[in-house]
Amino acid sequence: MIKKVGIVGFGQMGSGIAQVAAAAGFKVIVNEVTEELLEKGKKGIEKRLNSAIEKGKLDEATRNKTLGNLSLTTELGPMADCDLVIEAVIEDMGAKKEVFAELDKICGQATIFASNTSSLPIGDLSTVTRRRDKFIGLHFFNPVPIMKLVEVVRTIDTSDETFQLARTFAESVGKVAVCAKDSPGFIVNVLLVPYLLDSIRQYENGLASRDDIDNAMKLGCGHPMGPLTLTDFIGLDTILYIGDIFFEEFKDSRYAAPPLLRRMVNAGYLGKKSGRGFYDYGK
Ligand code: CAA
Repeated sequence: MIKKVGIVGFGQMGSGIAQVAAAAGFKVIVNEVTEELLEKGKKGIEKRLNSAIEKGKLDEATRNKTLGNLSLTTELGPMADCDLVIEAVIEDMGAKKEVFAELDKICGQATIFASNTSSLPIGDLSTVTRRRDKFIGLHFFNPVPIMKLVEVVRTIDTSDETFQLARTFAESVGKVAVCAKDSPGFIVNVLLVPYLLDSIRQYENGLASRDDIDNAMKLGCGHPMGPLTLTDFIGLDTILYIGDIFFEEFKDSRYAAPPLLRRMVNAGYLGKKSGRGFYDYGK
């Protein structure tokens, strides 16, 4: 049974996962490297919960209960007795392996480890631990409180018990779980990222204007965001990074980053988070 959940990383994804887990009644302990980042993550959750209260979608007692289930730490030590630890740090193999190697020394042998990576092989991450059977991918989507999906990714070593517990956890935080092989991009990103890269390629080739490309996919296909807006939302650096990983793995030109994307990332146009991408966010 999973009761206590550790989250390492309190950025956009970590804070969303912490919020849905705390709201579902799990005791959640979140780790970040500085008190400032912990404070920033907590403020984001409070803001989202308060906004739900203002819209009449949440009552104060539920907000207080959710916040009461959250505790914050700059140490990994307090993760020792967690039943499940979810890593949501930067998308870098070295950084993630460092976290898992450290957690492996600290946590009890029964603790399940999960990574929220969107592109790195889960099996490779598990090699730095002595619990490959208790290692799994739990890939949430942004914004986590809204997006209903979690990809549950088994490696060749993941045990049936770990898979069942992880899947039940995803369902108990209100998500629909789909199961995917440990292959780059799992289901969603291996389909979504080439589409986003193609839309940038078409924009670069002058097929249509930015707004017309976005409106075409929004209004013609019923997507909530056009592909260039979605690239801004996810982060141009993230899309470039994932595209490069796929290209390295599959050696297929459909994953090759368009020159415009690389130029924009090198120039610091990372999308919404940096204030400018395909659109200007006026920051
Ligand atoms: N965090 C939490 N909640 C958010 C939010 C955020 N960042 N942004 C919007 N919301 C909430 C709003 O509060 C609102 O909630 P209520 O219905 O309770 O009022 C709801 O979402 C709708 O928001 P808006 O009316 O402001 O705007 P919208 O209708 O345009 O919806 C959206 C916003 C939900 C983000 C929608 O545009 C959407 O679904 N976009 C596509 C997102 C997507 O594709 N995400 C997956 C990205 S891929 C990924 O994450 C994987 C990867 O590895 C790269």
